[in-house]
Amino acid sequence: MPTIAIRYCTRTGHSRQLAEAISEALHCPALDISEGLQEPVDRLFLCNGMYAARLDKQLKFFLEAYADRIGEIVNVCSSASGRSTRKQLLRQAEGRPFRLSPREFCCKGAFHALAKGHPDANDLKAAASFAVLAAR
Ligand SMILES: Cc1cc2nc3c(=O)[nH]c(=O)nc-3n(C[C@H](O)[C@H](O)[C@H](O)COP(=O)(O)O)c2cc1C
Repeated sequence: MPTIAIRYCTRTGHSRQLAEAISEALHCPALDISEGLQEPVDRLFLCNGMYAARLDKQLKFFLEAYADRIGEIVNVCSSASGRSTRKQLLRQAEGRPFRLSPREFCCKGAFHALAKGHPDANDLKAAASFAVLAAR
């Protein structure tokens, strides 16, 4: 079985909600990226959002600091448009030892009048089901 960890980077709480749904499904703690990564991990479920079409700066620092402890990143993201942060994460993976899994989860995340109510209960349920399959 691959070793698994869950980390989230959040500004408005959605990535934490997604991380906690995954945490319950995988029986694995969900921690803020400020906790770092104490041990190398085969598969990192990385819960994140999109801000002005970019990743959060702190997330970039985390990926730089812990790159050599990560085997594979499974992107779990939300954005108001529903667009994935995959492109931004692929840029972070360039020249780094970790790879980005082809499997990913993305849902809408509320921002002002956009995507109100998301992630909702169905989004969280779908994230948990996704994680169970992606953890194998
Ligand atoms: C400052 C800011 C900028 C954002 N920019 C975008 C954007 O460019 N495109 C988009 O689709 N969503 C954008 N969003 C919406 C977030 O990606 C969405 O609310 C996401 O669920 C936030 O996750 P979080 O609560 O974990 O921070 C933005 C949100 C904030 C707070």
